[in-house]
Amino acid sequence: MLPSKNNLLAAALAVVHCLSSVAAEPHAEDPVITPAPTPTQALAARQVAGGPGTPILSTLTFPYTALPSQVYPFAVLRGPQFGYNQCGAANATANADCQTLVFNNASDFCIWGSPDPNGAIGDVEAKVVSYCTNPQWGGRPIPAGAIHGIQFMRTSAYIQIVGFIDNTALGLSPTDTGGELDPHGADLQGNPLGGVVYSLDTNFSPDGGKTPGQVHNWNLFVGSGLFCLKACFNSITNPDYCENRYDLVGCDYNMPNALANGTYLDCQGDLQTPVGTYTSGGQTLTWSMPDPLTTDPPYTPVVPASSGCTTFSSAQLFANLGGGSGASGSNSGSTAASQTAKPGSSGGAATGSKSTSGGSPSATGSGGALASAHLPTTSLLVVLGGFLAGAMMLF
Ligand SMILES: *[C@@H]1O[C@H](CO)[C@@H](O)[C@H](O)[C@H]1NC(C)=O
Ligand SMILES: *[C@@H]1O[C@H](CO)[C@@H](O)[C@H](O)[C@H]1NC(C)=O
Ligand SMILES: *[C@@H]1O[C@H](CO)[C@@H](O)[C@H](O)[C@H]1NC(C)=O
Repeated sequence: MLPSKNNLLAAALAVVHCLSSVAAEPHAEDPVITPAPTPTQALAARQVAGGPGTPILSTLTFPYTALPSQVYPFAVLRGPQFGYNQCGAANATANADCQTLVFNNASDFCIWGSPDPNGAIGDVEAKVVSYCTNPQWGGRPIPAGAIHGIQFMRTSAYIQIVGFIDNTALGLSPTDTGGELDPHGADLQGNPLGGVVYSLDTNFSPDGGKTPGQVHNWNLFVGSGLFCLKACFNSITNPDYCENRYDLVGCDYNMPNALANGTYLDCQGDLQTPVGTYTSGGQTLTWSMPDPLTTDPPYTPVVPASSGCTTFSSAQLFANLGGGSGASGSNSGSTAASQTAKPGSSGGAATGSKSTSGGSPSATGSGGALASAHLPTTSLLVVLGGFLAGAMMLF
């Protein structure tokens, strides 16, 4: 999330709370991540990256082939970073601490997950590591069969992938409701701190898809068996389709999609309406998310139309693990021209508990209690109804 005058204090307070509730048994080899500044320190010393020796993560630019060992080795604020950025097939092991995430297409992508077993995003947001379908990118392998559905969309302003995934495949507790990750964070060092994203998609690649190019604007929600990841083209800054201030309302609002369990889709898609923008009575209105989320969003997100969808199988998704060439398959035409949104489940990426701030003072660690408190039961029923309606339209 982005800091603002209004929420910096609250965010700093919450970060402090979040870090103070980190699980008691870190890996012995974990480097110490400097605790976030106290609110008093933060305000007095303006401890937000951007001064000398404290670069703003999202402004750092590196060719993929010239990534340093760590892009954020600076021992300032929450730094230095936990893992490393030079990642490759040679170190794509179950213990890899790679913090370079590659997102190419429907079958070749990485997702941030916990470096510690049974983790919670709210506890490990500063040090999440990449988990990948393809060992070439050096992340921890996502086990074949852990993903239960995909919708990939290529649009004129971003590429997006949404899927069902077992929490445990990403080092997360089965019950973790997760949260949102992006290259900003309250102190502008990013979550993960030092995390960088690249893509072979020709909208990013400097050489037509041979070498990955850097994605400067992205966000990802993960938790509750769901993930969604969006990489916004560097050339398009207005509107900001990778807006990261709506981190409590999850994939359904931030990345409306036609994901269905057991279905793997590689699609073209129309642009979504930017999160927070909606029409009512012929007027375009903007909703600002309250934090904490005390009211429902005043609108139901519209799933953008998709077209030219190719279906593929779970086995094809993991073909790269065996050195295969990824997805291919039959063309299933258009899907879901105007569905109302569906949620994957009730929490985390679904409702989007805030990882940056961890949770309310009463939440234990990940914001699990937080997430279940966020959407009143009525709205869960409404979105569940939308899911069933959407699923029926697909089949
Ligand atoms: C990981 O392996 C790649 C080659 O596949 C190498 O370039 C890189 O330095 C290695 N990184 C670490 C941290 O060992
Ligand atoms: C998807 O379907 C499988 C098999 O029916 C089921 O076990 C799983 O819980 C479903 N996942 C979701 C997110 O609905
Ligand atoms: C995804 O990208 C990989 C290259 O990393 C390629 O081998 C594969 O064919 C691509 N798949 C699709 C569906 O474009």
